[in-house]
Amino acid sequence: MKPRIFSGMQPTGELHIGNYLGALRNWARIQHDYEPIFCIVDQHAITVRQDPKRLRESCEQVAALYLAAGLDPGHSAVFVQSQIAAHVELAWIFTCTVPFGWLGRMTQFKAKLQQAGQKHDAVGTGLFVYPVLMAADILLYQASVVPVGDDQSQHMELTRNIAQRFNSLYGKTFVVPETRLPSVGARIMGLDDPTRKMSKSAGSPNHAVSLLDPPGRVRKVIGRAVTDSEPGVDWSGPGPGVKNLLTIFQAFGDWTDGQMERHFAGMRYGSLKKEVTAMVNAKLEPIQRRYGELMDSRDYLRGVLRDSADRVAPIAEATMRRARKRTGLYGL
Ligand code: TRP
Repeated sequence: MKPRIFSGMQPTGELHIGNYLGALRNWARIQHDYEPIFCIVDQHAITVRQDPKRLRESCEQVAALYLAAGLDPGHSAVFVQSQIAAHVELAWIFTCTVPFGWLGRMTQFKAKLQQAGQKHDAVGTGLFVYPVLMAADILLYQASVVPVGDDQSQHMELTRNIAQRFNSLYGKTFVVPETRLPSVGARIMGLDDPTRKMSKSAGSPNHAVSLLDPPGRVRKVIGRAVTDSEPGVDWSGPGPGVKNLLTIFQAFGDWTDGQMERHFAGMRYGSLKKEVTAMVNAKLEPIQRRYGELMDSRDYLRGVLRDSADRVAPIAEATMRRARKRTGLYGL
């Protein structure tokens, strides 16, 4: 049997080329080597305030992007977290298993608390227990492989610790997922600040290229990307902005290092940006076309989400039965 894989993204903000090259495209490329489950984690999204109408629409938009990026719904389950109530049920059991201190040490929570000026009344409890829900997502399906970015490695370590703790307290119940992360693809940095990973929540309009940006906007944002004061591409040691543009081109084009060097060494930045723009637009075009078709076929899209949820529900229910029984909960 192929190993089971689980991953997910939040339906907030617009998915950008960093999400695509760093995760989505790789999910599509490796899906047939695994038994894949891909989730849209709307319950994680409500850890911060969301507009209800927009959140629901975003779930279908992200589902359409998953498929447009190449996830095959005949093979991969693609569903929304809140369709399966067991995620939160298992999260509650884990919440009661996890020492408070483990969560207090999560750097992502500490960063959010700091952003809120250390005011505990200004951060939701959901942000604090966020990693417990993430552990439940993964362990509910007994997934052994979880492709996520390195920014999630502390949450993954916590997930393993929760599985091990539950197993040692109550008897072997959960698969402990591997720490080894399959290669998740390129790490794309912000175009306005190549020292920071491209992020959905960065406020600046010149930070990211969204997967749904029209060609003119792609040209504008890449045209404004930070480079450096060299006259052209210094292949032996490009600055972070130039390196990021080259990475974007190479990842989209699947070029070898040799091809890249022959083509780009010494190239002026104006030409570099033109080439990157042309490559990005050429690769986004089919994704956007497929996305448009899927958004125009809502019944089909909703059918994929429903069928996938139906397909994974028995796996979740089998885990829950065992987890309830082991914990001594009355309702089985
Ligand atoms: N926390 C993840 C992120 O921000 C999203 C996520 C939630 C996730 N549950 C998951 C990723 C389970 C992998 C597996 O990227």
